[in-house]
Amino acid sequence: MNRVQIFITAVLLFSIQCFSACNVNDELEPPAFVKPLPDITPTPYNINYPTGLLWPRLKIPANNPLTVEGVALGKKLFYDNILSADNTISCSSCHAQGFSFSDSKKFSFGVNGQLGIRNAMPLFNLGWFEDPTLVKGGHGFFWDGRISTLENQVLAPIEDPREMNQNLAALEKELRAHAEYPALFKKAFGTDSITTRLIMFAIAQFERTLISGNAKFDQFKRGEVQLSESELRGLTLYTTEGADCFHCHGNDRSPFFTDFKFHNNGLDSIPTDLGLGGITGRAEDMGLFKTPSLRNLSFSAPYMHDGRFKTIEEVIEFYNSGTKNGPTTDLNIIKNHPKGGLNLSPQDKLDLIAFLKTLDDYSYISDIRFGK
Ligand code: HEC
Ligand code: HEC
Repeated sequence: MNRVQIFITAVLLFSIQCFSACNVNDELEPPAFVKPLPDITPTPYNINYPTGLLWPRLKIPANNPLTVEGVALGKKLFYDNILSADNTISCSSCHAQGFSFSDSKKFSFGVNGQLGIRNAMPLFNLGWFEDPTLVKGGHGFFWDGRISTLENQVLAPIEDPREMNQNLAALEKELRAHAEYPALFKKAFGTDSITTRLIMFAIAQFERTLISGNAKFDQFKRGEVQLSESELRGLTLYTTEGADCFHCHGNDRSPFFTDFKFHNNGLDSIPTDLGLGGITGRAEDMGLFKTPSLRNLSFSAPYMHDGRFKTIEEVIEFYNSGTKNGPTTDLNIIKNHPKGGLNLSPQDKLDLIAFLKTLDDYSYISDIRFGK
């Protein structure tokens, strides 16, 4: 064959192969189970959904089904320093179980002691932030909603120079040469090749299993425990114009305690961090941040995207008397603060905090399925 013939044959072969194998959705072409080795059948992982409140079923991507082996691999990677450039930092360095998978610092340290620019978010009930019926515009993850799927989220910290600062080709090489990983990837995905895509898939699987739904409030909704007088008064303040939290953090029938939207809750009249606006470029999005869930607050201090409040008391006092009005401040903040405050009594504040603490899920931070 001369060069032209070789070229034509190659093109033909490629197009035949593509005709049978190319996926319309290139971005999410299935790597898992493409050529499962005959002796490998990963075990399906069944999620035990919490009860009490109404938990919608997760919409798990068809090309990355949860398997026992995939979740176990994702967990091992999550806890492994190998993911960072100098092998000093793992996901758990900034997302530790005892802090509801956050890190108790205002800003986190990445490799070489570099300081980050936002507060590490606690991790739980993440899979629902991929559901397009709950999250609009694909703005599921991070304070500014810049990422829409857990698979894609994984790369951000690994490559971020302030966090793990890792080169992906170098990481693949390290994992391929590792004593344990090749066999674990094979068990989970039935393939001999370790790729970045499979790293993303495994960690995303583990993240989807991080479900927290066994707080006192869930037990109350299941009829197992009573709430105290103070907790019940706090619940009423939360769900009414009294404290007006439900407008953004959701009502007490939804298990998530967020509206899955973005707001400017009045931290600054002129925001220094543009939040969602930095991603969309739209004037009305400037200074808007993802409404965080109010579950597990006792474990995840400090609070807000910049970790400015050290205690729940400070947060309540902020909503009570410290919100600022700017061009994008949410109407639910402005209309309730016409005279500069919610006007909560000292007892109201105690009640509201008592209620918020019923959302702490102690079993979540000690569940060995999620721990190292
Ligand atoms: C150096 C600290 C650090 C490391 C290491 C780190 N994270 Fe994060 N993580 C953060 C910070 C800070 C944010 C918020 C960033 C932002 O909003 O811009 C975050 C946000 C997230 C979120 C978004 C949560 C939400 O509710 O939107 C997920 C998921 C996450 N991290 C998972 C991981 C995984 C998986 C790893 C390991 C591959 C990891 N993180 C490594 C600090 C870290
Ligand atoms: C206008 C919508 C809105 C209202 C009303 C609102 N919040 Fe928030 N809340 C947010 C947003 C958005 C954030 C994140 C802001 C940021 O970091 O810039 C937040 C953050 C928080 C945090 C910090 C959580 C964390 O993980 O850092 C707590 C706690 C909180 N709110 C509690 C409350 C309580 C209690 C009320 C009622 C008194 C309330 N919120 C009312 C939108 C709202």
